[in-house]
Amino acid sequence: MNKKVRKAVFPAGGLGTRFLPATKVIPKEMLALVDKPIIQYGVEEALASGIEHIIFVTGRGKGAMEDHFDYSFELDHTLERRGKNEILEVSRGIASMARISYVRQKEPLGLGHAVLCAKELVGDEPFAVILPDDVIDANPPCLKQMIKVFNEKQGSIIATMAVDGPAISAYGCLAGSVDKKNPRIYNCTGMVEKPKLEKAPSNQAIIGRYILTPRVFDLLEKTTPGAGGEIQLTDGILALLKKEKVYGYNFKGKRFDAGDKFGMLQATVEFALKRPEFGEKFREYLKGLGI
Ligand code: G1P
Repeated sequence: MNKKVRKAVFPAGGLGTRFLPATKVIPKEMLALVDKPIIQYGVEEALASGIEHIIFVTGRGKGAMEDHFDYSFELDHTLERRGKNEILEVSRGIASMARISYVRQKEPLGLGHAVLCAKELVGDEPFAVILPDDVIDANPPCLKQMIKVFNEKQGSIIATMAVDGPAISAYGCLAGSVDKKNPRIYNCTGMVEKPKLEKAPSNQAIIGRYILTPRVFDLLEKTTPGAGGEIQLTDGILALLKKEKVYGYNFKGKRFDAGDKFGMLQATVEFALKRPEFGEKFREYLKGLGI
């Protein structure tokens, strides 16, 4: 195989029910984390990792995402007229940052089905999957770390992090043995979608970053509904595992679930504290709350 990872698929067709009422009209991917929609963090991570082509799998009511990554003539023209060059650069920069293709997932049949919708756009090459809810603060970026491992191993790579206790039931869970040379790498032997704690094969939770070989598409076509009655990506990868090697990778960095209200609050505080323009002021404000 030995092909470069050039494309990243962003499943973004979900309804965002965990974030109602904010997501009744606004796509959850467009919710602002400090001052950027959460999907932009994922796109910036992909670009910083060497991805050349972004593929959004969208659905009904997700038009705001397309507008966000496009030129806004009225806005740009007004900013130009008012001499607001710095903000103009920000606005134009978003539109020119990436080559983006869109494909619609017409029915919410599950994450595996969403990835399958990108089959024609990806073609016969390894590709990344980024779940935009999972915002990851990492240096080097999480996907870049994974591409490095992919280039060494030439097999599918799944991001994991340690989650102890019953919280593991909110994730896919990876089974495997630790690589002898690199303790962050797992030789994957199985995975279970959202297991009960007693059934969890390890404490390695699957996080929303994957590098997959294109064979997974044929297997996803044959995957029947699993956990929650949905076509699960985890089940497609499990079928892949019967044919090829798959690796877990415990990335260096911190992940936030920005599709969840509490996770978004945590991310907001931590990302705001890191902002040079107002991080210090925000720290003083938090201290002043005396909590
Ligand atoms: C999806 C995957 C799951 C993974 C999780 C990470 O679940 O199916 O394996 O652990 O993303 O965020 P979801 O959160 O979409 O239900």
